[in-house]
Amino acid sequence: MLHRLEPQSPDALLALIKLHAADARPDKVDLGVGVYRTGQGDTPVFAAIKAAEQRLVDTQDSKSYLGPEGDMGFVNALMPYIFGTDDPAMGGRIAGMQTPGGTGAVRLALALAQKAGMMRLHMGTPSWPNHAQIIKDIGLDWTAFDHANPDGSANVDAVLAAIRGAGPGEGVLLHGCCHNPTGIDYTPDQWDAIGDAIAETGVFPIIDVAYQGLGKGMEEDASGFRSVLAKVPEAFIAYSCDKNFGMYRDRVGAFYILAGSEADGAATLEKAFSNANALARASWSMPPDHGAAAVRLILRDADLTAQWLYELDQMRARMNQVRARLAEAGTAGSVDLTPLGTQNGLFSMLPVTADQVRQLREEHAIYMAGSGRINVAGLTFDNMEKFITAIADVTG
Ligand code: LMR
Repeated sequence: MLHRLEPQSPDALLALIKLHAADARPDKVDLGVGVYRTGQGDTPVFAAIKAAEQRLVDTQDSKSYLGPEGDMGFVNALMPYIFGTDDPAMGGRIAGMQTPGGTGAVRLALALAQKAGMMRLHMGTPSWPNHAQIIKDIGLDWTAFDHANPDGSANVDAVLAAIRGAGPGEGVLLHGCCHNPTGIDYTPDQWDAIGDAIAETGVFPIIDVAYQGLGKGMEEDASGFRSVLAKVPEAFIAYSCDKNFGMYRDRVGAFYILAGSEADGAATLEKAFSNANALARASWSMPPDHGAAAVRLILRDADLTAQWLYELDQMRARMNQVRARLAEAGTAGSVDLTPLGTQNGLFSMLPVTADQVRQLREEHAIYMAGSGRINVAGLTFDNMEKFITAIADVTG
């Protein structure tokens, strides 16, 4: 039977990790997969996480099952950061559950939307390549619109046209902040217009929030998608703690449903949550506990919370320093680096061809995604000049 299977190529981003690891050149530069790196090129465990993990080891008295929704203390503790401290449950219209990473949350969101009858999803491209892979695997119909203009600004006309051309029974996938792969986020006014268009047409918003705090700050990065949530009756939010708590391999995520009204007495929200619960049970049964439990301990302790936010601030400051330095450089060969100074988060796209990406890897030991995406956190004051010179070399 198995001989009928077609071979699949490895995920291109994850394959880069292995290619880079196998390269013996001492001055190699990894701008591939999205992990934060310090100025020394390391991806350390947050001190706040280390302290919480120690506390977990000392105090956890059982590893018995929790259920498909996972650690609800974690899910609830995150809500003020995502939905705001004024009314984190949005008048009782939010229900959430823990998921295996942000990917688990995206998958659950799309599968539940499909189960609820969503006929088509609209998605800005380029997007995180795994979005398309999940959509295809689930068997959803989808249509692309352009996310970005060539000048490095967001193509808000395209997203508004997609929303206005769609209607109830169709969905739109939005990146909450720090757009992956372009780093180009909507401005507050653009988010306002997007929220209005969704409210007018009844298109279902699915918001992927994988990098909160890596752009301008925890509050600032939430304000755009919160303005949409304030205007719409229903939405899904897929959330990842893998970046803002540095938990990558521990797979820490959450899925939230916004639904229901006073009139229906939360019946719709409960129905949707019970379906999410059943889908989770049939997919992974229960999410892994450890990372979410550590995040819960941080968020319930004022000192650990302050430590975590301090570490997140440091990360953001370093990435912004790198971005400012690249923007200052102006151009490298035919590549204008100045837009990188105003983009957000780990990623930006360079206008380079797949062949130039190969040349950068083979001739300069610089590893980046074939799309031209770079992880700016892979750049340090030590390798920045080498990077700029190499870009100039292959594009000049
Ligand atoms: C990335 O885009 O590099 C990260 O989100 C890691 C991943 O799973 O692709």
